[in-house]
Amino acid sequence: MTALPKLEDLTDQSFDPFQIEKLSTGDCPDPYPRLHELMAQGTVIEGSYRKEFTAVPDVQMGHLPQVMVLGYDAVLHVLTHPEIFRNKEAFAPNLGRSFGNTVTVMDAPEHTRFRKIFQKAFLPQVVSKWGETIVDPVVARLMDPFMARGEADLIEEFTHHYPFQVIYAQVELDPAQAPVFHKLAIAQILSSIGAPQGQEASGKLGTFFAELLRQKRGNPGGDLISHLATVEADGERLPDDVLISFLRQLMNAGGDTTYRGTSVLLTGLLTHPEQLKAVTEDRSLIPQAIDEALRWEGPVASTFRYCAVDTEINGQPIKAGTFVNTVIGSANRDPSKFPDPDKFDIFRKNTVRHLAFASGPHLCIGQHLARVEMTRALNALLDRLPNLRLDPDKPAPAIVGHLLRVPEHLWVKFDT
Ligand code: HEM
Repeated sequence: MTALPKLEDLTDQSFDPFQIEKLSTGDCPDPYPRLHELMAQGTVIEGSYRKEFTAVPDVQMGHLPQVMVLGYDAVLHVLTHPEIFRNKEAFAPNLGRSFGNTVTVMDAPEHTRFRKIFQKAFLPQVVSKWGETIVDPVVARLMDPFMARGEADLIEEFTHHYPFQVIYAQVELDPAQAPVFHKLAIAQILSSIGAPQGQEASGKLGTFFAELLRQKRGNPGGDLISHLATVEADGERLPDDVLISFLRQLMNAGGDTTYRGTSVLLTGLLTHPEQLKAVTEDRSLIPQAIDEALRWEGPVASTFRYCAVDTEINGQPIKAGTFVNTVIGSANRDPSKFPDPDKFDIFRKNTVRHLAFASGPHLCIGQHLARVEMTRALNALLDRLPNLRLDPDKPAPAIVGHLLRVPEHLWVKFDT
């Protein structure tokens, strides 16, 4: 058997991307009161989401003309009109520098062609099989060390690791390499704030994946990379640069978001014990609990588009050449669609779908996988940690961040 390639660590091993990422994400405790104020002022507001909620300078985009688009109908309009609101120009200066030529940085017709191929690998019938074979063993392995202790920090010891480990298992990574993988996955997105380690991390992940692809093409197995390396749609295979960029993106798009989503789900339930009790006793409530958590505190509060032609929304003009902060968080807390929108309530009766996975052509490819992961994780925690509750002697969980939100700790107690 050929040895898997080795992923090289950053040259400066003292560089801690997790700390820098925390600084870049900011410590904004609650953007929603201000978002409600802004929504009351209009649908299109001049300025950038980042500037509104953090003092961290935006070296890549800060000097460009930007507006925020707010409210459910307007955000949905932007996401579903890709001929006006484009991805390529919006993401080339930031995510494109980190990941390369990936689907998020593409528009039709290129996007349609490649997306079709990736999507096939993440269809519900494909990912549901990974629940048992990949997700459950990862979840069990992470829980074992704290099971007998009667207490844990579910962020530090569980949610921050399990979605990444699911990806490592999918790409059959050597477990000893997991810490370097996680570090480089986070470091690569720091290109968007100008950190030189971002380019270094992208380069090293690229070299690693190129070698892995070469091996898998020569000797394909049943894993995700072998599948992507050999899959065809309309007689076409994925070019290496597109596939390698996708794999780079997967580290963050699949790992970081699900970590945040699961942390928010647990926070919502643990801070509303009556809802936690209802879900514990009736697991058929899990899907609606997941959707409510993603609506309430979706991990991706805002995304970008580039306005390619002069247009207007709600009679408010947006000029061609403007970068559009498409504030998903405002859509999901729009009181005209979700009454009492700041309340976490898994029993709410919704008439529209939340936009935490976006909408339109770039709708999250991994949403079925994310749901499988979150369902499996929650079931395992409820099954194996009886009387799960917040630790009354520790600070209550506080969700922070302006763009990518998550609590830093989630201290819990349970019966042993
Ligand atoms: C709770 C977890 C997740 C959330 C909240 C989430 C959210 C999102 C959002 C909002 C977008 C669209 C961004 C935009 O249009 O600008 C997106 C796209 C994407 N997501 Fe997810 N995601 C999650 C999990 C995952 C997972 C597990 C994967 C792994 C396969 C994944 C892969 C992707 C990819 C590849 C795209 C780009 C799609 C495209 O541009 O066509 N995501 N996600």
